Amino acid sequence: MTSKTVAQLLKADFKSEDVDIKGWVRTFRANRFIALNDGSSLQNIQCVVDFQNTDEKTLKRITTGAAVHIKGQLTESQGKGQSVEIQVEKIVILGDSDPETFPIQPKKHSFEFLRENAHLRTRTNTFSAVMRLRSTLSFAIHKYFNDNGFYYMHTPIITGSDAEGAGEMFRVSALDPKNPPLTEDGEVDYKQDFFGKETNLTVSGQLEAEAYAMSLGKVYTFGPTFRAENSNTSRHLAEFWMIEPEVAFMDLAGNMDLAEDFLKSVLKYVLEHNREDLEFLEQRLLDEEKTKPQADRSELNLIDKLKFVIENNFKRVSYTEAIDILKDSKPNKKKQFKYTIEEWGTDLQSEHERFLVEKHFKCPVILFDYPANIKAFYMRLNEDGKTVRAMDILFPGIGEMVGGSQREERLDVLKEKMKALDIDEEELWWYLELRKYGTAVHSGFGLGFERLVMFVTGMGNIRDVIPFPRTPHNADF
Ligand code: 4AD
Ligand code: MG
Repeated sequence: MTSKTVAQLLKADFKSEDVDIKGWVRTFRANRFIALNDGSSLQNIQCVVDFQNTDEKTLKRITTGAAVHIKGQLTESQGKGQSVEIQVEKIVILGDSDPETFPIQPKKHSFEFLRENAHLRTRTNTFSAVMRLRSTLSFAIHKYFNDNGFYYMHTPIITGSDAEGAGEMFRVSALDPKNPPLTEDGEVDYKQDFFGKETNLTVSGQLEAEAYAMSLGKVYTFGPTFRAENSNTSRHLAEFWMIEPEVAFMDLAGNMDLAEDFLKSVLKYVLEHNREDLEFLEQRLLDEEKTKPQADRSELNLIDKLKFVIENNFKRVSYTEAIDILKDSKPNKKKQFKYTIEEWGTDLQSEHERFLVEKHFKCPVILFDYPANIKAFYMRLNEDGKTVRAMDILFPGIGEMVGGSQREERLDVLKEKMKALDIDEEELWWYLELRKYGTAVHSGFGLGFERLVMFVTGMGNIRDVIPFPRTPHNADF
């Protein structure tokens, strides 16, 4: 007696065999045909019930959503639509599902509705396909780094530092919020808190990854990161997963090469391993886009878009060149941007980034050498004294996918920068010591995992590519 998954049964060259399978009923038609899904595949397997020899009570309990255990024979299918089916010899209802109240009916549901039922939404084709792809992608990421000599390191979730200096942190405290100890000045006295100081959930594992790169050479982190930015957009989460490689003796050009090679490699991996899910999501996207005006539809289908990224070089453009392009652009001259680009030095908004990738270059773009004062404190200052060796990778339909840089490895320059930004040297003493003992050129980047999953699956809202999204006013499940 075999215990194979639906995917295995459908894939194997047909031979009649005994099967023993468990799964959930997607539909039950004509008191006879169960479409059974066990999560292993987008496909259901058809199970044919001998209704004349099955008691009425059991037949009534075969409802959409019910968990069942089926034993029977795999046979070639008589009907259209499937090559094999299971002739049911024995069916046991493991868990009933009341068809009157089960939220996931065999019909189209809105994504908003499914978000409210995030615990059940992977019972649908779309969400099971997205989550299988998410799983494959994370495997492909680990595989890429492992194949290329990187060590996987785990950076702390609780930290005392604000790596990005953006101040968007969630506080971690064990003090009684109603009655915290106070200092003489009337401020909350965090010296008496659990860690004896102020702590927060990490916004990035980079600073700690740098310490490990400066001994193990090539490392990466892949873990949850937290940002309390109150931006309720389709591209921001309060809790998201970030991949952060960090490499000693690598400069910014090497960093760009690494990021491009890495992205192409993981895209190739999913194309080779999740074809069925991708084809399904491509069709879903086509159906969705039919409702949009022509101008808003993508020029390429989902799979062609992935192939395009794999086969073409990313365009590398300096911030300064990008500003010139934007200044001269039609939407800028016609004041169609919400924020008009007037001078060098302004930060780019997502409308500008999207213009560059979607309208101007029509391919992934790596922007580099940004003005120092719009980027984080740790980036390597260029010889011009006003730009830093930063890079952002922008993707069509997504905007910023990757943010990275060469790091400031000179102790004196770093100290000066921290002083100017009022960053406490004592807090980052260990980070400064990395520059004091055996400092060297090093670089790395951060990839927002959910933004990659969005790109691969064609899903338009970041809430739909992570199992249980955390966003402002939402931490259900
Ligand atoms: O550009 P960011 O802020 O870079 C860093 O945190 C660096 N310390 C990374 C490094 O050099 N090691 O964030 C990196 C990426 C962004 O490009 C974006 O893809 C993603 O993280 N990201 C978010 N994704 C979802 N929700 C949010 N709120 C995000 N904020 C950033
Ligand atoms: Mg960034």
